[in-house]
Amino acid sequence: MEKRNIPRHIGIIMDGNGRWAEMRGLPRFEGHKRGVGRVTEIVEAVKGIGVEALSLYAFSIENWLRPEEEVSVIMALLEGTLKKEFLNFMKEGIRFRTIGNREKLPENIRTVIEIAEEGTRDNRNFTLQCALSYGGRDEIIRAVRKAVGVNTKPEDITEESIAGLLDTAGTPDPDLVIRTSGEQRLSNFLLWQSAYSEFYFTNTLWPDFTKAELMEAIHEYQMRSRRFGKVDGARNLFVENSFGIPTKWSD
Ligand code: IPE
Ligand code: IPE
Ligand code: MG
Repeated sequence: MEKRNIPRHIGIIMDGNGRWAEMRGLPRFEGHKRGVGRVTEIVEAVKGIGVEALSLYAFSIENWLRPEEEVSVIMALLEGTLKKEFLNFMKEGIRFRTIGNREKLPENIRTVIEIAEEGTRDNRNFTLQCALSYGGRDEIIRAVRKAVGVNTKPEDITEESIAGLLDTAGTPDPDLVIRTSGEQRLSNFLLWQSAYSEFYFTNTLWPDFTKAELMEAIHEYQMRSRRFGKVDGARNLFVENSFGIPTKWSD
């Protein structure tokens, strides 16, 4: 793999746990358990190649509509994993944060999250951002409410000001968003932030997703041409002087 052009931030929609279990005649929670088991390998892999941040979609705001038993299994898995991983975050210099609507989370989960966030806030090697009770529209609504709440003037509403009020404030936009399980949709993940992300879809179910497939996704990302609305190669049309000012056409 190319050492250049490594995405700074990767988002993953970890989908397909339920189908993984159902295909084996197992209860859906077995799929969630297996899914959680994939996370460490993937975090280590992205961290190892110099990615700065990873956002994992673990539970959407719409997922609250699932049966209560499934929701409580997912919450218990989250709590257990966070408790178990805390020392590892400290050892590896991982800053842990969650994005999403906290008010909907049970008290015990909120407490564990707060402890993990507080304890790891000064870690600088890597940011692990867990989207939990997260919806992109809900995040934008909460940001707008914050702006209105402090009587922001209409002309002070800018892309930067909105971005600064989102849960992701301070983390660069995702360069690459991966979704497993064959579904090709965002399902309310990082709506604002993925405006210019590259997307990679795979039929692999999340519990089967490996480091090798992650590397394949990154390799494909590296072959893409990101234009951000400009003409391809436009930045090579001019020769710039040492102040970065274009002075003449290149040959
Ligand atoms: C993703 O797997 C995990 C969560 C949404 C919590 P699913 O539970 O959506 O699995 P499928 O899509 O039903 O297979
Ligand atoms: C999206 O998956 C949320 C997570 C992976 C956590 P869903 O399974 O909830 O999405 P839909 O319902 O298929 O769009
Ligand atoms: Mg799903």
